[in-house]
Amino acid sequence: MYERNVSWIESIVKEQNEWRSKTINLIASENVLSERCRRVMGSDFAHRYAEGHPGERFYQGTDKIDEIETRLKKELKTLFNCRHVDVRPISGTVANDGVFSRFIKPGDVVMVNSTSGGGHISHHKAGSVGKYTKNIVDFPLTPDLYHIDVEATRKLINMVNPKVLVFGKSLFLFPEPLAELSDLCREKGIVVIYDGAHVLGLIAGGRFQDPLKDGAYVVTASTHKTFFGSQRGIAFSNMKDREWEEIDRGAFPGSSSNHHLDTLVPLAITTYEFLEFGKDYADQVIRNAKTLARNLHESGFKVQAPEFDFTESHQVAVDMANYGRGDEVARILKDNNIILNMNLLPFEPTANAANPAGIRIGVQEMTRFGMKEKEMVEIARFFKLCLKDGKYVGGEVEEFRKKYQKVYYSFDDPEDWSERQPAK
Ligand SMILES: Cc1ncc(COP(=O)(O)O)c(C=O)c1O
Repeated sequence: MYERNVSWIESIVKEQNEWRSKTINLIASENVLSERCRRVMGSDFAHRYAEGHPGERFYQGTDKIDEIETRLKKELKTLFNCRHVDVRPISGTVANDGVFSRFIKPGDVVMVNSTSGGGHISHHKAGSVGKYTKNIVDFPLTPDLYHIDVEATRKLINMVNPKVLVFGKSLFLFPEPLAELSDLCREKGIVVIYDGAHVLGLIAGGRFQDPLKDGAYVVTASTHKTFFGSQRGIAFSNMKDREWEEIDRGAFPGSSSNHHLDTLVPLAITTYEFLEFGKDYADQVIRNAKTLARNLHESGFKVQAPEFDFTESHQVAVDMANYGRGDEVARILKDNNIILNMNLLPFEPTANAANPAGIRIGVQEMTRFGMKEKEMVEIARFFKLCLKDGKYVGGEVEEFRKKYQKVYYSFDDPEDWSERQPAK
């Protein structure tokens, strides 16, 4: 009797696959897996449990996942040049919670990026930090509102004596001033946490700041935004072994038992993709973001931070107050097969969250599908046609997107890697 419902679910999945392959996806927190990552999913590992660490599990039958997990950790340590890595958090928020739970005690003062300033909900009262303390203070910003004001932050640190600073954010255009604040943090014994969820792939490609080198004590991240892996989280650090043991308990038993082996396996493949192609990919992502931003700006859109060349990451932020605001603009674009999200901009009150002035654009997924600068010019043209001239471009977008179906920066096609010279 319920078979029809099962068929319905299967048909929805098919429709989603077909529809999304025709759209330009500019959601800044998403990406696509390579074919070889997808091929290893749905294996026997999808049914299995593995609590604890390789070689020290609480279940039998884990020999094979132990081999993969051990190798994954080794390669991630090479990629991020770090001493410790935890691959068991099942998302960026879970990674954050595992780390926050170890360092933040009731009453501690924690400094974070505000919601309007781009901070993530897990850093705030309603999210993970708020479970441990209510004393949350926002970083002061420079007048452009896209950078932390270092001098004002120094003064505030001396005034409020924070236990923890949480850098990193969801609207993340420019590197954070960790290096500038690291002496003061060391002197005062402040724990510096860097949430690299959005920029992990750019860090891996060596094209964003290196947070550990800049003074972060621990880095947390999602593995599926600019890092084009399966949907999981990680934490890594150069702290001493004894201190890492504390962090280690944040993931297990702190926030999960089994850590979803079906998504762990492709992450190991993605890590090799980054070791081989990460620099080329990250380079292209940043070039694409700048090109799109400049072209939108030249078309008359209010692209944010023009005095800083708009962006140093995969993201572009645009004030769409003159075009019906973020929500409506995102809907119009979706009806034209361009997918992105509305976003609060730093000059807006948090009360605007349901209909902010801004939109956030991320170019990382389209970069993975092989788009370069000239395709960004084309995307800016689509924006102009549909938002300024009121034209329907959905059909043209679909036609355009047909040419970009292959996933690059992967080992899918031997042509892309067999004769390859490693990037410098
Ligand atoms: C800065 C930041 N941290 C953490 C997260 C949470 O990541 P996840 O969705 O993997 O839990 C996000 C999500 O977008 C984010 O932007």
